[in-house]
Amino acid sequence: MSDFSSDEQGTGSDAWSGQVAVITGGADGLGLALASRLARRGVFVALWDIRSDKLEKAAQRIGAMAIAQKVDVTSAGQVQAAAAALRAKHARIDILANCAGITGKTNIKSHEVDLADFDHVMNVNLRGSLIAFQAVIGTMLERNYGRILHVASISGKEGNAGMLAYSTSKAAVIGMTKVQGKEYAETGIRINAIAPAVIRTEMVAMLPEEQVRYMTDKIPSKRCGTMEEFASAAEFIVSPRNSFTTAFTFDLSGGRAVY
Ligand SMILES: NC(=O)c1ccc[n+]([C@@H]2O[C@H](COP(=O)([O-])OP(=O)(O)OC[C@H]3O[C@@H](n4cnc5c(N)ncnc54)[C@H](O)[C@@H]3O)[C@@H](O)[C@H]2O)c1
Repeated sequence: MSDFSSDEQGTGSDAWSGQVAVITGGADGLGLALASRLARRGVFVALWDIRSDKLEKAAQRIGAMAIAQKVDVTSAGQVQAAAAALRAKHARIDILANCAGITGKTNIKSHEVDLADFDHVMNVNLRGSLIAFQAVIGTMLERNYGRILHVASISGKEGNAGMLAYSTSKAAVIGMTKVQGKEYAETGIRINAIAPAVIRTEMVAMLPEEQVRYMTDKIPSKRCGTMEEFASAAEFIVSPRNSFTTAFTFDLSGGRAVY
């Protein structure tokens, strides 16, 4: 008879205890929601963000289980220095959640795209995620354990008109996830993405209303997702329980994506 007792492995709070997580874009929005949830589980969280004002408040809100590190993810030097400082103190990095992201200019057609803006969006959303990945993967390989989550977007799967730079960068993040998941599939490291539809964070508040309406109208659930729904899904993806899924893009779109 099959032994199902191992199904429970890694579900309790003990499974989280002692873990160290890096959350890029952790000063606000979805990154902060995930960081707060992980800290409640007993994970020490390093918040990497460019906004020092928000960073301090976010770290204070979480308390002793958080550290604020001012990091621009487009700077390999800054990212490597932050990872080295964290390793020197904790000797391990178990989780990386790449939540730092920007939309760039939106509600414009492709012929209106400013190339400098396009480059900046690709730099933060795609290259920044790779830079953070490269800064932590060595430590994960040493311990043969890791959970990496790249926050992509439904726009990367579907392509949102008016958002060329953003949609292209998120499609590339999904492509990167497929490659990385396969490359490390024989190790204890799991690398996945998540593709949310609209969740009302500051990033969305900054978008033109017309662009937001375009995106929300496409959600069959007829509502936006919530921070808690993101944190809940992301928590599973970076947990020890998520042991046999890698290279995959999880859905969080209220029915918009069915693949
Ligand atoms: N909110 C949504 O509807 C939604 C939907 C799909 C995907 N996403 C993705 O989720 C992630 C989080 O977005 P959010 O909605 O929480 O936005 P947000 O603006 O609330 O948070 C993003 C954080 O990233 C930080 N950041 C920006 N550039 C950075 C850089 N160069 N280095 C370090 N940090 C930087 C910002 O300061 C901010 O704190 C992004 O990748 C976004 O594209 C969001």
